[in-house]
Amino acid sequence: MTNDFRGNMIESIEKYLQEVVAFEASDARALEEFRIKYLGKNGIVNALFTDFKKVPGPEKREVGQALNKLKVAVNEKIDAGKEAFASEQKSVFMDLTKPGDPLPMGSRHPINLVRKRIIEIFKRIGFSLSDGPEIEDDWHNFTALNLPEFHPARDMQDTFFIQQNPDILLRTHTSSVQIRYMTENQPPIRILSPGRVYRNEAISSRSHCMFHQIEGLYIDEKVSFADLKQTLQFFTTELFGKSQIRLRPSYFPFTEPSAEVDVYWGLETETDYRITKGTGWLEIMGCGMVDPAVLENVNIDAEKYSGFAFGMGIERIALLLYQIGDIRLYFENDMRFLEQFEPGLV
Ligand code: PHE
Repeated sequence: MTNDFRGNMIESIEKYLQEVVAFEASDARALEEFRIKYLGKNGIVNALFTDFKKVPGPEKREVGQALNKLKVAVNEKIDAGKEAFASEQKSVFMDLTKPGDPLPMGSRHPINLVRKRIIEIFKRIGFSLSDGPEIEDDWHNFTALNLPEFHPARDMQDTFFIQQNPDILLRTHTSSVQIRYMTENQPPIRILSPGRVYRNEAISSRSHCMFHQIEGLYIDEKVSFADLKQTLQFFTTELFGKSQIRLRPSYFPFTEPSAEVDVYWGLETETDYRITKGTGWLEIMGCGMVDPAVLENVNIDAEKYSGFAFGMGIERIALLLYQIGDIRLYFENDMRFLEQFEPGLV
């Protein structure tokens, strides 16, 4: 070994030392790369120590000192860097014991909420649910319900026709479900038919070409008008907390006699005045005793059986319960409106 070798070694150690002193780690990753470069198994320090073994005895001291100085400098840089990036590393660390981010919870649509409440009330007095198609034929929607072709009462329920001769249409009420049920079942019958219905009407704050109904039907021996009134009274007490009702004579082709049901809302507040137009009364549904002609149409003995039916619009009931001013709000899907109702879960 020559003096030259020793000189070269000291020179390169010095060069590395300058590099180490000048080194500034930008982040923890750069620091780790720096550590591997110098202190790794195949790193610079190890390589220098290998070379160091070849340095002749008398020169070992000087080279050894330089080498140690380099090693100390590298370690100092690493320690300083570790401290600097310790806080950064902490923030990357995930705390698995923390509760998760809450998922936004949807809310029930007001139509669903009110439908559910109405169904629950009638379930308690023995009504069960029945369902039927929204696309109906003329027989189930009109003719069987004592609304023959060209009957003027059909005008009140103009709808959207899908096909003519034979007529296939979007049902105008869920009374069609009652026809289907009575055709298949003999009394006693106690059913509730909720569902979507359609009418050819201009859309405004009070009417829509699509809305939801709940209709009820009760057929048995000796069912009377008094049973109808008592049932309605039970219903209004349960739903609105108001038991005073009045029945105004009305007309429906499928019931005789027929009536509109008003509930006494009261005249205590400004709002009461506004929504009842100063009368205190609110119309909530139509009803009547099932016309014997309808029973004959579905082969139920009208001499033996009688019954009542009623029907209400869910939108209208929800308008009253929640004081909603415009029926269009139900179908616009505006989150600011929808979020105001009871959150998720049945
Ligand atoms: N089907 C009627 C309608 O949609 C409502 C109703 C049902 C009236 C039952 C009386 C009896 O207008």
